[in-house]
Amino acid sequence: MSITRRAFMKTAALTAAAAALPARSWGRVLGANDRLNIGVIGTGGMGTVHVNGFMKMAGAENIAVTRVCDVYRKRLNNAVRIIGGSEGSGSIEYERVLDDKDVNAVLIATPDHWHTKIAIEAMQAGKDVYVEKPLSLTIEQAIACREAVKKTGRVLQVGPQGTSEGRWWKAREAIGAGRIGKVVWSQASYCRNSREGQFNWRIDPEAGPSGTGDNYIDWDRWLGHEHGLAAKIPYNADHFFRFRKYWAYNGGVATDLMYHRLAPLLIAITGANGEYPSRVVAAGGQYIEKDGRDIPDSFMLMIDYPSEHTIVLVSVMTNDVPLPDVIRGQYGTMEPAGSGWSFKEQGVWAPEFRKANADYVKVARVKNDKGEERDDPPAGRASFEMEARDSRGHVENWLDAIRGKAKPNCNIDLGCSTMVAIKLGVESYRQQKMMKWDAKAERAVS
Ligand SMILES: NC(=O)c1ccc[n+]([C@@H]2O[C@H](COP(=O)([O-])OP(=O)(O)OC[C@H]3O[C@@H](n4cnc5c(N)ncnc54)[C@H](O)[C@@H]3O)[C@@H](O)[C@H]2O)c1
Repeated sequence: MSITRRAFMKTAALTAAAAALPARSWGRVLGANDRLNIGVIGTGGMGTVHVNGFMKMAGAENIAVTRVCDVYRKRLNNAVRIIGGSEGSGSIEYERVLDDKDVNAVLIATPDHWHTKIAIEAMQAGKDVYVEKPLSLTIEQAIACREAVKKTGRVLQVGPQGTSEGRWWKAREAIGAGRIGKVVWSQASYCRNSREGQFNWRIDPEAGPSGTGDNYIDWDRWLGHEHGLAAKIPYNADHFFRFRKYWAYNGGVATDLMYHRLAPLLIAITGANGEYPSRVVAAGGQYIEKDGRDIPDSFMLMIDYPSEHTIVLVSVMTNDVPLPDVIRGQYGTMEPAGSGWSFKEQGVWAPEFRKANADYVKVARVKNDKGEERDDPPAGRASFEMEARDSRGHVENWLDAIRGKAKPNCNIDLGCSTMVAIKLGVESYRQQKMMKWDAKAERAVS
């Protein structure tokens, strides 16, 4: 069989490209046209959203969900149904997913206390990972996961999907180009209100460790007490169905909601890897939602950074009026507008703002009634908007990263530095102390 010149050139080019890469990347290059098999671990609320999302994009993205896993049989069976899988494609034990050599990548959507244990073991088993936000329950887990990414060289995406919005990368470009001068402080929030109490989601009364058939929950595996992930306690439906209310499994609104806001802000202000904080202080309290939960319903954080700026985050569950996103620089201020940002100058720094933004701000010399010349717009009034380009979704970005076509938008450094600030905030609230980050020892100091 003769091979055409074209086919030969293509093969030769591929071989040369592969040879230029470290050995572990070969599989990715050579398999670039192959289907990616994905396992989803934790098919509750968010995991099911992901399974459905994968099914919708399966053809276009050349992927398949070949395994699902959950410790609650009803949710597991539901996921097996969605993927049209055989009985063997679902398991209560996540180890079955990691043992499957045909699974290329896993998405982890368990409660937070399990995230990094499964993520690390998955990478050690040679799989790429999408781990839902927040990265972890503890700082030690986050750092262990970061080290595992570096050691194994696997692709890992952390789940705050806002980091894949083009807006934030556009903001990075603008701030990097000096359009608003040095960033001094920024704010963001995530606020809600409810009649039933935040996170008091539906409980299946029949479900539990003594339930049969669909109602069975492997409670020991959910707690993970055998691995030191949480304390061993008798089955508690509120803990299972409403884990966000309890410190044992997460950090409440800080890890559930603020994490979504902080990660993209860090991209804008400091870049793709984020920045570790220098000190963090929290305020707030349980002002209304006093139903035996651990977490506050009003939570405010102030985070100082070594590159000398402060981020203020607010998450209130009893009034949904937000604090809008604002990034303040010495020369100007940025706020979301359309798909991108609006920029407004600070009057006293008008010359610097106008110089940095000469491509957007057009200044004319005009005469007033008395015939005196002045700038139009006058100092303090210049503003403009900048659109951002549409970008691929967060999951699609992960798939691109696995195929070597992109970098994960929430890489492990961003995921870990976001986690450290958020967790210091939780500890500040719980210990009623200001928390500092010892960057050398990589540990919290109160
Ligand atoms: N990115 C987002 O917008 C977003 C939205 C919602 C939730 N999340 C994140 O997703 C995660 C899950 O949240 P949720 O609301 O879907 O919770 P959930 O309780 O509905 O689902 C979690 C599932 O994991 C299962 N599970 C627990 N331990 C397991 C184990 N060891 N092995 C296999 N399965 C296990 C549980 O049985 C449960 O069905 C959380 O970390 C949360 O922060 C992200």
